[in-house]
Amino acid sequence: MSLLTQSANKPGFFITFEGIDGAGKSTHIQAFADELSQRFPGRQIVLTREPGGTALGEKLREILLHHPMHLETEALLMFAARREHLATVIEPALKDGKIVISDRFTDASFAYQGGGRGLDLAKLYELEVWVQMRMKNEGGVEQRYVLQPDLTFLFDLPSAVAESRRSAAREPDKFEQLNTKFFEKVRQEYLRRAEDDPARFRIIDSNQSKEVIWNSLKEASLSI
Ligand code: TYD
Repeated sequence: MSLLTQSANKPGFFITFEGIDGAGKSTHIQAFADELSQRFPGRQIVLTREPGGTALGEKLREILLHHPMHLETEALLMFAARREHLATVIEPALKDGKIVISDRFTDASFAYQGGGRGLDLAKLYELEVWVQMRMKNEGGVEQRYVLQPDLTFLFDLPSAVAESRRSAAREPDKFEQLNTKFFEKVRQEYLRRAEDDPARFRIIDSNQSKEVIWNSLKEASLSI
C-alpha cells in the first residue's frame, strides 16, 4: 500500500520540507511539487510555507524574521501563524484531497526555538498539542490525535557546510545571522525529532551535489 492511500490526513496528504538554513531545501521544493503533479495528475498540489502561507502569516513572518523579540513571544507567534495556516489553508486542502507541501512546519519550532535558542521543549510540546490536537471518530468512539505531516523530508548537513553555502548566496535574515554553533544545535534537534518519529521522516544527506540530492529526494518519495 502506498503512503498516500494510508495517509493519516485522509483524504489528503501532507508533506513538509525541513532543514537548517543553507541545507538546500528551497532549491528543490518547486521541482518536487512539479514532479508530484506529474505523478498524480488528478490531485491538486498546494505549495506553501511557514512562517507564512496566509495573508496574516506573511505579516507575522515579516515581523518574526526582522525584529528582535523575547524567545517565548517568538515561539507563540510561530504557532499563532501556524494555527491560521492550518485553519485556512492546510486543513481545507487536505479535506479536499489535495497534496499539501509546506516549506517548514512544527519541527522547525522545535529545532530553532527549542534546540537553537533553548526554549524548554515541554513548552513546545504544549503548543504543538494546543494547535494541532484534533478529534476523530473511530468506530463510534471520539478520539483525540495530534495532526502531523504524513511525510517530512529533512535536508541534513553539517552546520559549517551550510554556513559557507549561506554566505555565498544571500544577505542573511535574523535567523541566518546566528553562528555555526547555533545551527549545529538546530540540526541536532531536527535529528532528535526524526529519531522520535522515524516513520514520518526521510533524511536527505545534503552534503552532496544538487543533482545527487534531487535524485535521493525523488527516490525517497517513490513510496508516496
Ligand atoms: P526559510 O524557511 O529558511 O526561508 P528562506 O529560505 O526564504 O529564508 O526562513 C524561515 C526562517 O524562520 C528560518 O530561519 C527558520 C525560521 N523558523 C523558526 O525559527 N521557527 C519556525 O517555527 C519556523 C517555521 C521557521
